[in-house]
Amino acid sequence: MRIDVVSIFPDYLKVLDLSLIGRAAGHGTLDLHVHDLRDHAHDRHRTVDDTPLGGGAGMVMKPDVWGEALDDVLAVDAPTAGRQVLIVPTPSGEVFTQRTAEDLADADALVFACGRYEGIDARVPEHYASRGIEVRELSIGDYVLNGGEVAAIVMIEAIARLLPGVLGNPESLVEESHGAAGLLEYPVHTRPTRWRGLEVDPVLLSGDHARIARTRRDQAIARTVRRRPDMAASLDPTRLDREDRATLASLGWAVPTGAAHPVPVRIRTATTCDAEALADLAARTFPDACEQVIAPESIARHIATNLVPDLFRAWAEDDRVDLIVAELLAPQPVQEAPGGAEPEGTPTGPDLVGYAAVLREEPDAAGEPPTGIDPRPACVRARHGQVVGELSKVYVDSTMRGSGLTPALMSAVTRQATDHGTSLLWLGTHVTNKRAQKAYKRAGFRQAGTRTYNVGGQDAHDVVMIRRTGEGQ
Ligand code: ADE
Repeated sequence: MRIDVVSIFPDYLKVLDLSLIGRAAGHGTLDLHVHDLRDHAHDRHRTVDDTPLGGGAGMVMKPDVWGEALDDVLAVDAPTAGRQVLIVPTPSGEVFTQRTAEDLADADALVFACGRYEGIDARVPEHYASRGIEVRELSIGDYVLNGGEVAAIVMIEAIARLLPGVLGNPESLVEESHGAAGLLEYPVHTRPTRWRGLEVDPVLLSGDHARIARTRRDQAIARTVRRRPDMAASLDPTRLDREDRATLASLGWAVPTGAAHPVPVRIRTATTCDAEALADLAARTFPDACEQVIAPESIARHIATNLVPDLFRAWAEDDRVDLIVAELLAPQPVQEAPGGAEPEGTPTGPDLVGYAAVLREEPDAAGEPPTGIDPRPACVRARHGQVVGELSKVYVDSTMRGSGLTPALMSAVTRQATDHGTSLLWLGTHVTNKRAQKAYKRAGFRQAGTRTYNVGGQDAHDVVMIRRTGEGQ
């Protein structure tokens, strides 16, 4: 690639002779030429600037001087083979990103026009664009430098390291920040494994490459969410696998079904103020668990008599219940009604899209399980002396299937139940609901027996699954 830089401070560009970029220039991968703009100023003082037309502070660089300099380096009338781009570094340009670097690394020749003072007369880029030259006015960030030289050096380094043969190990390009995954890079470590009391994650020393990759991916997601919420909000869901989504959801970003990007969610403990919204959500989601096997009238009866605001109010007030909700923080804008009136039925409560509950029972003084807030199946009752909690259960709105919220709610409620002393979790799920059984298995549950459960007057046959807490949460 040929690179020409025009500047009133050609010495500034000498740093490019150092390091890998200098070596690339030495090997011919890069053909770098630096030109002094003042060579094209013809008065006694070699003047390159003048006062701004229309008034204002500072000086503006003269178009006639720039025109002569750029005519010399650009192939205006005799197009060269390949793609040539004129780059004008300016704080008012489009932002230069890794995508821009990748795009420009494809060019055959780049010409950097480094302005100083208040910038270059705006007719200069306009003129070359009108002559068919590809012109890019680019900013390296939202701050103002004294001139374009440092910005040009930044861009040249970012572009040149993408050229074949410039980096010693091209693998270095694969997992970097701002790569195709849209994530920042995970934190990196080297020996010694213990330094000033700080240990590295033992997974890194395990030799288990799949676990290392997963841990690093989770760290990259966590770092991106914490440091660059703008990047988290524009992640591409097609590049996120199930585990990515679970990690992302537990960090407050869930991917609704079919959505182009994640949306912010809050996973939190429910309060009595959530009771109405929870009953609505429960009515929407309960049928998903047993629609194929329980008659619609029975489902409707169960919802109307059991899944009512009073139940959720009581749960929110009960110390023995860990009740966690997922609240959408960016509801879709409500369509304005004709005439600007408030549309009817505008939801006023929290926009809940998921919940999970654990109902805890503690053994009595004799170590026997008490008859408590929910009857337990025999296979669970036999577990003498344990603090047993029923995971009752994880429900997620159909718009949030596959969003990562289910595992995120599951780990949030499990963590809280464990903190509150629960040592064994159990749940019942319909024998035919293989999808749910698979998901619970993935979450560490195993089958312990069966039970019969009454749904609105109809008996349902459930598989009972159990899991000790503290195992792979
Ligand atoms: N010249 C001055 N500030 C600049 C910036 N932020 N980016 C590119 N060129 C500049």
